[in-house]
Amino acid sequence: RFSDVHAVEILDSRARPTLAVTLTTAAGTRVRAGVPSGDSTGSREAVEVRDADPARFAGQGVTKAVGHVNGEIAEALLGRDFGSAADVDAALVELDGTPGKSRLGANAITGVSLAAARAQAATGGMDLWESLSAVAGTAPRLPVPHFNVVNGGAHAANALDFQEFMLAPLGAPSLADAVRAGAEVYGRLQARLAAAGHATGLGDEGGFAPGLDSPEEVLTLLVEAITDAGYTAGRDGIAIALDPAASEFWHEDHYVVAGDHLSSDQLIDRYQQIVERFPVWSIEDGLAEGDRDGWVRLTARLGDRIQLMGDDIFVTDPAIITEAIDRGIGNSALIKVNQIGTVTETLEAMRICRNAGYAQMVSHRSGETEDAFIADLAVGTGAGQIKSGTPARGERVAKYNRLMDIADEQARPLPFGIG
Ligand code: PGA
Ligand code: ZN
Repeated sequence: RFSDVHAVEILDSRARPTLAVTLTTAAGTRVRAGVPSGDSTGSREAVEVRDADPARFAGQGVTKAVGHVNGEIAEALLGRDFGSAADVDAALVELDGTPGKSRLGANAITGVSLAAARAQAATGGMDLWESLSAVAGTAPRLPVPHFNVVNGGAHAANALDFQEFMLAPLGAPSLADAVRAGAEVYGRLQARLAAAGHATGLGDEGGFAPGLDSPEEVLTLLVEAITDAGYTAGRDGIAIALDPAASEFWHEDHYVVAGDHLSSDQLIDRYQQIVERFPVWSIEDGLAEGDRDGWVRLTARLGDRIQLMGDDIFVTDPAIITEAIDRGIGNSALIKVNQIGTVTETLEAMRICRNAGYAQMVSHRSGETEDAFIADLAVGTGAGQIKSGTPARGERVAKYNRLMDIADEQARPLPFGIG
């Protein structure tokens, strides 16, 4: 039962407006959630409501979505008894009434849903991760952080087509060691880039955005930086994960990578060469969301060697993931609450993945707030993997720091790793 439901327009990490939602329970507990926002979004993601008023924030304002929370949603939630956050989520879905949550806005609904999960944890006297673990029926586990240290694609102004190059300290003995490894290699990479005369300015997720266009050149630099920092490049030390976000460089029937025009099969060949040459253990959105036949062939070719993760193609949607599993698309899923709009549906998507043996990586968005909800979500669901950008920039580091706090607070250490 809530005594107050309130949203306010705040800024995300890209100077775009987003929402913060505060819920106050009848017992007087106050919880708050910030809503993230993507840029290289999947076409079937739940839909944000933005003002489209060119006079404010170039049309990006969210006063309408804020109004929906403070008006219609507050009216529907106040004075009603909810047994759980799942009941709140169900009420939000019903109230919106559209498949893509486009009426009230996935941004408005996500904010209320995240805050409702927090309210349930607070009411039960639990940490958020403990409460999510109880709701999902999953064993908690500290995830391997994936640090996005080189940015391209829609997240940077350089010519690099692949969007994300991540450090994955799979061999680290603990979460704290993994974070340390990420930070140390980040520093070495900066030095290498500067020494080679590349700009060390940052992209949206805090990774460097050097003026390179060849993914192989970036991978070479990453391996050198890993070695410089005294680590082994590979699955027993620090591996590399890619998110090419290929929907962004797919042009109807071909891909363009560093000026090369590639068919799906030629791009698959290129990935195979990359996997043979570099310690790449995971590729997310290696092909475009519209290239489903290509995805099937990619999975057949590389699926038993590396993780092939669906982001744009799955959009954390239980129905879409179910269909993709049937078709043999990918072997793992990226998980973003605001792609589907509620925590309950997110947990359902993760349950479907678990049952099918699909690995899961909990993810931030390129536009973030200081809210560290995803750290608790990753721990509580035992996902085993998280990505939250670089080990630099406050909105990214907030998630890693929350993980370090959770790791430290336990009398008996939680298990760490992929699982
Ligand atoms: P987005 O990108 O948050 O801009 O959608 C993140 C990703 O593609 O994983
Ligand atoms: Zn992605």
